[in-house]
Amino acid sequence: MTDSSPRTARIDAMIVAAGKGERASQDIPKQYVPVAGKPMLRHSAQSLADHPMIDRIWIVIGDGQAETAKKAMSGIENYRLVTGGDTRQQSVSNGLAAITAGGGTDHILVHDAARPFLAASVIDRLLDALDAKPAAIPVLPTVDTTIRIENGLAAETLDRSGLWRVQTPQAFHFDKLVEVHQQTEKSADASDDAQLIRACGYDVAIVEGDDQLRKFTTRQDFADAALTTMIEIRTGSGFDVHRLAAGEDLWLGGLRIEHDKGLAGHSDADVLLHALTDALLGAIAAGDIGDHFPPSDEKWRGVASDVFVGHAVSLIRQKGATVHNVDMTLICEEPKIKPHREAMRSNIAAMLDIEIDRVSLKATTTERLGFTGRGEGIAAQATVTVGLK
Ligand code: CTP
Ligand code: MG
Repeated sequence: MTDSSPRTARIDAMIVAAGKGERASQDIPKQYVPVAGKPMLRHSAQSLADHPMIDRIWIVIGDGQAETAKKAMSGIENYRLVTGGDTRQQSVSNGLAAITAGGGTDHILVHDAARPFLAASVIDRLLDALDAKPAAIPVLPTVDTTIRIENGLAAETLDRSGLWRVQTPQAFHFDKLVEVHQQTEKSADASDDAQLIRACGYDVAIVEGDDQLRKFTTRQDFADAALTTMIEIRTGSGFDVHRLAAGEDLWLGGLRIEHDKGLAGHSDADVLLHALTDALLGAIAAGDIGDHFPPSDEKWRGVASDVFVGHAVSLIRQKGATVHNVDMTLICEEPKIKPHREAMRSNIAAMLDIEIDRVSLKATTTERLGFTGRGEGIAAQATVTVGLK
């Protein structure tokens, strides 16, 4: 193993995030626009920070954007900010100069902030390739028939087997990348670094890219992401028990059920809606029902529990999230739930403002075992799925 092999080599990563994002037509530069619940820059920064072989992370940002960048990076430690230039190439050059001033490194990954979804496996493939070559890039095949257009009309069809799409990060032996940046005209504005390395006569290895790594360029890219795979899925679970007592009303799933006993509690003791509320709060890590509606507060005495569900739903909406589905189980011997099940499902669908086929309610006994088996109380559990943009 030589000093420059990836296992012993010092590896730094640079994210270029100094562009204006003009084609994306957003209110702020695209690298700070939320994608799947986080500023776009944050996603790939997290992937690089989580990778065990990467030592330092350098973020190249636009002039005057330090506060915005720090906010986007909050929670990630050990990164340094560098001010970029007028072109991507100049921004990379500025990053390289800062790394050199900071003692240099052996290998460098250069990545676009505009490609948020960076899998560790791509980084692994690139670093492995640096054992044999001074540079490596991720590529994907051209899958569509590809043509040249001349005078506004379709011209010849190109042989797409020889055409590949190039992504970032791109990995380099640091000294080579510094050398080729010094040799390249400052005004050249190369769209990536591999072309500079190649122009200087060095080999560039190719590794398999990743569809998830696609670049966000236009406004449509952000709209597509909001609609499809970029939604972050969260789940929440809730559990609750109330005691069955004579002389109480029995409320379950927002429905009053005729029964010889009812559930005792501070509110209407609707054990199903309480488990559901906790599951909703759990999906957004917003504490539990007791935090929001303390039993010590007289305000909640006898209150209908759909108020709790409504509050949890409004917190989810404030996060820009939506409830996808809920699955609940009531645990009791009596009353029998089946005759009331559809009415409860439809109540809950209305509370959550979702279709009834997204609301599942099941019931089970505990074979006459335990407190539910003896009819001393009713237990309920709930699981919810929430999508966060
Ligand atoms: N970039 C940079 N400095 C520049 C220009 C671009 O650091 N002067 C970065 C961008 O922030 C982006 C990456 O290079 O992460 C790829 O560039 P591109 O997708 O073209 O982003 P923008 O230049 O910001 O977008 P546009 O060209 O639409 O203005
Ligand atoms: Mg650009």
